[in-house]
Amino acid sequence: MSEPRKILVTSALPYANGSIHLGHMLEYIQTDMWVRFQKHRGNQCIYVCADDAHGSAIMLRAEKEGITPEQLIANVQAEHSADFADFLVDFDNFHSTHAEENRELSSQIYLKLRDAGHIATRSITQYFDPEKKMFLADRFIKGTCPKCGTEDQYGDNCEKCGATYAPTDLKDPKSAISGATPVLKDSQHFFFKLPDFQQMLQTWTRSGTLQDAVANKIAEWLDAGLQQWDISRDAPYFGFEIPDEPGKYFYVWLDAPIGYMASFKNLCDRTPELDFDAFWGKDSTAELYHFIGKDIVNFHALFWPAMLEGAGYRKPTGINVHGYLTVNGQKMSKSRGTFIKARTYLDHLSPEYLRYYYAAKLGRGVDDLDLNLEDFVQKVNSDLVGKVVNIASRCAGFINKGNAGVMVDTNAAPELTEAFLAAAPGIADAYEARDFARAMREIMGLADRANAWIADKAPWSLNKQEGKQDEVQAICATGVNLFRQLVIFLKPVLPLLAADAEAFLNVAPLTWNDHATLLANHQLNEFKPLMTRIDPVKVQAMTDASKEDLTASQTDTGAAAPAGNGELAKDPLSPEIEFDTFAAVDLRVALIVKAEHVEGADKLLRLTLDIGDETRNVFSGIKSAYPDPSKLDGRLTMMIANLKPRKMKFGISEGMVMAAGPGGEEIYLLSPDSGAKPGQRIK
Ligand code: MSP
Ligand code: ZN
Repeated sequence: MSEPRKILVTSALPYANGSIHLGHMLEYIQTDMWVRFQKHRGNQCIYVCADDAHGSAIMLRAEKEGITPEQLIANVQAEHSADFADFLVDFDNFHSTHAEENRELSSQIYLKLRDAGHIATRSITQYFDPEKKMFLADRFIKGTCPKCGTEDQYGDNCEKCGATYAPTDLKDPKSAISGATPVLKDSQHFFFKLPDFQQMLQTWTRSGTLQDAVANKIAEWLDAGLQQWDISRDAPYFGFEIPDEPGKYFYVWLDAPIGYMASFKNLCDRTPELDFDAFWGKDSTAELYHFIGKDIVNFHALFWPAMLEGAGYRKPTGINVHGYLTVNGQKMSKSRGTFIKARTYLDHLSPEYLRYYYAAKLGRGVDDLDLNLEDFVQKVNSDLVGKVVNIASRCAGFINKGNAGVMVDTNAAPELTEAFLAAAPGIADAYEARDFARAMREIMGLADRANAWIADKAPWSLNKQEGKQDEVQAICATGVNLFRQLVIFLKPVLPLLAADAEAFLNVAPLTWNDHATLLANHQLNEFKPLMTRIDPVKVQAMTDASKEDLTASQTDTGAAAPAGNGELAKDPLSPEIEFDTFAAVDLRVALIVKAEHVEGADKLLRLTLDIGDETRNVFSGIKSAYPDPSKLDGRLTMMIANLKPRKMKFGISEGMVMAAGPGGEEIYLLSPDSGAKPGQRIK
């Protein structure tokens, strides 16, 4: 055996202004399984995290709730900690970025960067809310899209036509916080001179620290040339004041990754045998890994290593990036009940079901991972209950009744035992490489072989025959040993199942190396069912409850769903209208002559519509439901023909077709009964 490794691991710090959902859990479960694997193997592995507590969003939410930001982040930290603990995510420390250790480290790192000449200052002009007396980030400004004229769009992009622009391009801008018209105002900002680190980053990002797909993405940014990074914000802001610069605060993303160090520092300060510098010092031989989602790669693979380098600390050994979670093939959606909070899941289902399902689907790439709820039920029931637990439950009873619960010392399947042993290094390699899916496939392959062997030996039939008792005991003892090996392999994924199995097996906590030994002449404890099947009714109850969460959270906070969660337009209660208003709508039957993709548009199809006396060009956001537009050619639908033409990025849209549904694949174009003719009006 080689020397135990020293490893420090982090997951991204969740924002302290919202609940943990199953998308977040993909990251924390993945990291936890890897950390547990390292500990299982006898390595020193420390897993730290924290809430990311700073920024204007948190300040504004606290204000809305009538509490201080400190109270808000304390409440959220309690909620987050409970969610993680109940999903068996076992942090060595869960801290907060709003902590003294972080203030000290952030100041110290900034001062080192400043004194080494890596900080620049210059004045920038930005929108300012004269009522709230604060500068407005892009997402706090709303106005009319300069391209297509849609009202109520955010300061950096239009949800309707997809245009991106500067907030100063918006027509009729308004502060989303107070409603006031913002004014332009200058202010001094502080910049981190990222281009100083171009060379270092070019080498570091190609030195095995990143997955290939991530390194390629970064290479594009590096080739395009790096920009200075704005690290300051003006008061009022919830964060740390910049040393020597009253009224200026560190931007939340400056002190967030330093929060990794701060959480570890906090742990060191109460753990005498842990030495901060041994992990973070320039000459550290410890390994350092950050697990993150694909949306925050630039912060971790560019800014962060540059900050560490500039301030004289070691850089990460690896940044492990994962993709996004989809549910039933689509972005999580509140209206479909697939925006599932960690707590809502836990109210209905055991954490180990999800841990296993994620493990079974997680490779080492950055692809998105789909939680298909039907497949989830099927896979967990068939693999964990049907294969793994089944081995123990088939064997335990015979040992209990026939030999007072004592396993005999005969190995009835030496070849199979040998095969399990031989598979161990491959399974370990898969875990090490974060290819959990491969590890699970190999383990389930072994479980299949064990089950097939037991079925072939059929101890339940032998048991009825004279003089076969020794054989039955040998088979069942062997079966329990094979089960024990599977439990050892699965322990990083299923710590509760492992603990229950250890109780049944009457053994001390199992470690990886125990897979090379067998139990013989060993007294077992009573067998209790180790895991029950998932009842699909519970899954339905969970999605129903997630729909209720939506209504609850809207009335709780008065806040709308966060932007970008994949939903179509919100559905406010429609006010009554006069008949004249209805009659003013020119609603007609339209024949789709041609439907086609629009180059560069994610959501739009271009429809050529025949409405009897003329042909219309209409852009419609229905592509997600009709990925093959040619299927629409020749079909009838309904259109609003007297809608004012709108200029869009891709051309002019002359009307609107009518469709129903929540969005995504579920968009249903309306059609008239057969016999209707293009151009006929609604009467
Ligand atoms: N606070 C920042 C991270 C700071 S790290 C110094 C942040 N917080 S977050 O709460 O938005 O996200 C936390 C982690 O969860 C991120 O790595 C993010 O990629 C991940 N996920 C959030 N939603 C996710 C999915 N739907 N699917 C998979 N991972 C997701 O970013
Ligand atoms: Zn627009």
